[in-house]
Amino acid sequence: EKGGFEHFMLKEIHEQPKAVKDTINAYVKDGEIVFSQVGLSDEQLKNLERIYIVACGSAYHVGMSAKYILESLADIPVEVDLASEFRYRDPKLIENSMVIVISQSGETADSLAALRLSKEKGRPVLGIVNVIGSSIARESDYVLYTYAGPEISVATTKAYSTQLVAMYLLTIQLAKVKDKITEEREAELLTEMATLPDKIQRVLEDKERIQWFASKYANAKDIFFIGRGLDYAISLEGSLKMKEISYIHSEAYAAGELKHGTISLIEDGTLVVGVLTQQALFEKTVSNLVEVKSRGAYLMGLTSYGNYAVEDTADFSVYVPKTEQYFMNSLAIVPLQLMGYYVSVAKGLDVDKPRNLAKSVTVE
Ligand code: F6R
Repeated sequence: EKGGFEHFMLKEIHEQPKAVKDTINAYVKDGEIVFSQVGLSDEQLKNLERIYIVACGSAYHVGMSAKYILESLADIPVEVDLASEFRYRDPKLIENSMVIVISQSGETADSLAALRLSKEKGRPVLGIVNVIGSSIARESDYVLYTYAGPEISVATTKAYSTQLVAMYLLTIQLAKVKDKITEEREAELLTEMATLPDKIQRVLEDKERIQWFASKYANAKDIFFIGRGLDYAISLEGSLKMKEISYIHSEAYAAGELKHGTISLIEDGTLVVGVLTQQALFEKTVSNLVEVKSRGAYLMGLTSYGNYAVEDTADFSVYVPKTEQYFMNSLAIVPLQLMGYYVSVAKGLDVDKPRNLAKSVTVE
């Protein structure tokens, strides 16, 4: 049942090209996004003035990622909340808004409660859900299913990747109906999105190098992941993958925030992973890497092919193929998933069932 892989997590990491392709193919027909299955009309999307995204854990990180893309490409204000926080405050949801609840299982108690609260407040809810017929799918006004297939490993990988695709599709459609992008730009984005499965496959082919690096760092005490913008959202997910399955303390920081306290935690040999996929922020994050290096940090740089300048600062560099800057998360997350996986394996831990965690959190 593990298809020749040692763990479900590794199998699911390798299923990402297919999961991403299946999710794209479910909604892109003859070069156009078709949302008839979702039930959302162009008219409804056009009238939206604000989006609230609510989720937990990795799904929340997808929301963080989506905020940068939606605001920049579709020019719409976005707020992102943890479901466990959203449900216990009195969120002000403006009239022409929509709430998006992202959930693999569709059964997460806090996310379901946030959905119900949004409906009580009279706002439409779009569920981005993997499990067909789950509670969140049933109670949402609209459902955009992801096509990851069943995910067994507690740590999410392929569902996360398909949730990103769902958000790309929604963003492009919104940008189109709101006249924020030209037809040429839309076609360019869809063409590039279609290359993601092959590019993810190429990242997977480099896994031995990550495995080697992970085995070297299996005894690390702390790991920090830093980045700016979309790279910060990638860092959050990379850090969660690491801590949940390897039990190594790790934290993600917006690179510019280091000076406000975190840098005091950097000691001789502390591993700092710099995520540098966003061209406009590259130099800014490099300067933060230089700062931690001078405090003794060991640096891993994660960027795309061509950005070889990272080697002037980083001790170990990982490259992923180039793609549209908005889609970089889909490629950059893969080495970080593999890193968490291989550290966990090197430590002899129960990768698929980390201690204290459940696949679906149905109690708050
Ligand atoms: C982390 C992970 C969790 C889930 C979170 C939400 O690898 O799997 O953080 O993302 O519990 O679960 P769903 O998406 O089922 O609502």
